Amino acid sequence: MEGGALVRLAARNERITPFMVMELLARAQALESQGRSIIHMEIGEPDFPTPGPVVEAGGRALARGKLGYTPAAGLPALRQAIADYYDRRYGVAVPWERVFVTPGASGAFVLALALLVEAGERVLMTDPGYPCNRNFVHLYEGEPVLVPVGGDSNFHLTPEQVEAYWTEGTRGVWIASPGNPTGTVMEPGQLEAVCEVVGRKEGFILSDEIYHGLEYGGITCATALQFAPEAFVVNSFSKYFGMTGWRLGWLIVPEGAVEAAMRLIQNLFIAAPTHSQYAALAAFSPETRELLEQRRREFERRGEYLYHALIDEGFGISSRPEGAFYLYVDCARFGADCNRLCRDLLERAGVAITPGLDFGRRQANTHLRFAYTTSLENLKEGVMRIHRFLQRRPKKS
Ligand SMILES: Cc1ncc(COP(=O)(O)O)c(C=O)c1O
Repeated sequence: MEGGALVRLAARNERITPFMVMELLARAQALESQGRSIIHMEIGEPDFPTPGPVVEAGGRALARGKLGYTPAAGLPALRQAIADYYDRRYGVAVPWERVFVTPGASGAFVLALALLVEAGERVLMTDPGYPCNRNFVHLYEGEPVLVPVGGDSNFHLTPEQVEAYWTEGTRGVWIASPGNPTGTVMEPGQLEAVCEVVGRKEGFILSDEIYHGLEYGGITCATALQFAPEAFVVNSFSKYFGMTGWRLGWLIVPEGAVEAAMRLIQNLFIAAPTHSQYAALAAFSPETRELLEQRRREFERRGEYLYHALIDEGFGISSRPEGAFYLYVDCARFGADCNRLCRDLLERAGVAITPGLDFGRRQANTHLRFAYTTSLENLKEGVMRIHRFLQRRPKKS
């Protein structure tokens, strides 16, 4: 574009990294438009439609047509419904005034980090981890500290690591369980121990609990609020509730941050989308809960299948995932360049997968993230294509 060179962008933009998978997705779509069949295992959102009762409630709000701003922190009834969810699910009392409804978990991060991080301050987080986390910290001129984690700690921070990586400039710890890209869950004892260390250091806990509800093998994930009542907890209607495009999430702040959070949310967002908030009121109804439980069971079946199928193909999975809809697999046996492997799998086998390099640095080049956000039938077809592709390649070991 002419004249573009004259625009001076703020230096922080240099530190914001793109999603590599977007390029892959664009290529997958280009191939599909040429008539190629692609099995999508790169997509980080549920393939199920938004639950009917939620769509109907949203539709009723649209039909009323009265869609002005809601109060800045959200509809009081929705804040109360979220507070009740904590009581019912975790046995934790959260006064509704501490719940802030945001545009997705992403909006909750914008709010939480604005509350917590000053320029130059360090925030500990896992490597691998959700790539946006680092970028959010950069946005506030903070320093994300990527702590390498592996299967031995279920890909989560240990209390020892928090101790070891904590320096004078460290302000807090960003945890996420079940994690993206790993799907692994932090043991309650590990979560409690990390909260204890951070509490002793008077730092903050920012806990991303967006995949709660998508948990398998009979477990229920613990919320950080069980162990750190002052934690900042993020969740969203995107994943478990199947509402990615409605852009609705929430942040729970401690009592001492309520007033500042209110001032910030008014300025940052005015309010989260109104029709989405009315829709979300139906997300906690018994009818929706029953439907979400059926979907959870379907994700569990898919995950179970894919876990064994990928191990049979020779991929390594060092810690068994118990949540979300991801498998983070070691592909070292098939070469040390995950981008290349992803490209080859797409072009030659018609299977789209996310390269590990999107999620950090630790052994990232020898890892891939598979998302089981497609039908069991598609997963089986995808695995068959991968099998045929790998058969044609020379093995490393
Ligand atoms: C770990 C994690 N946190 C947050 C988000 C953002 O979610 P939302 O759609 O609620 O903004 C995602 C989306 O993929 C995610 O994987």
